[in-house]
Amino acid sequence: MSPLPPAQTVTLRGRRPRDLPVLRRWLADPQAEWRKWDAPYFHAAATTASLLAYVEQLERTPTRSDERVIDLDGECVGMVNRSQEEPAGGGWWDLGILIYDPAHWNRGIGTQALRLWVTATFDETDAHVLTFTTWAGNTRMIRAAQRLGFQEAARIREARLVDGVRYDSVRLDLLRREWTPPGPPPSR
Ligand SMILES: CC(C)(COP(=O)(O)OP(=O)(O)OC[C@H]1O[C@@H](n2cnc3c(N)ncnc32)[C@H](O)[C@@H]1OP(=O)(O)O)[C@@H](O)C(=O)NCCC(=O)NCCS
Repeated sequence: MSPLPPAQTVTLRGRRPRDLPVLRRWLADPQAEWRKWDAPYFHAAATTASLLAYVEQLERTPTRSDERVIDLDGECVGMVNRSQEEPAGGGWWDLGILIYDPAHWNRGIGTQALRLWVTATFDETDAHVLTFTTWAGNTRMIRAAQRLGFQEAARIREARLVDGVRYDSVRLDLLRREWTPPGPPPSR
């Protein structure tokens, strides 16, 4: 794993019009490597169709607070999102994250983006508990969430079929009282 050079800065921000070509390129490509990791158990054709509809919706609508761009030194490299589990107002939010280019994986960018997203979600909502939903083959997702304090909350054994192999479905959770917000950067 090549660590992120210290000069590189990860931030979360609203979507800008100049992000749209990047989003379209990565989301509309059925061969993109990320598709093998983000819910690969769904039927590829249906995923492609819903992603194309999603890109078109992004192109027509302004940015929203429940969805942000992951910005690496001014470049859009992925997105985070969140949605409330029903009923709205019940205090349970499910989070999502996607970094498009495998060249950016395993360098700590996901962990940094997740830390910002968890902090923002606890700051901006009444969330009592946050979850991530993934599958046992997605070690990067599980490790990055665990590093921030998420714990395994549910494991549905052999529930997901990926390339002919059965994997457990995994849900991770974090309570508000367990979260330690990041402190200010060390003074020099
Ligand atoms: C999941 C994702 C957001 C994680 O972001 P990332 O920047 O790659 O993750 P990080 O580098 O911050 O952390 C990855 C962790 O997994 C660990 N890891 C990676 N491969 C591993 C393996 N085979 N075995 C054990 N640990 C592994 C890394 O060592 C690191 O842990 P550490 O920091 O404790 O060393 C990113 O890889 C991604 O977008 N993937 C494609 C889409 C996706 O899977 N989205 C999630 C859908 S639920």
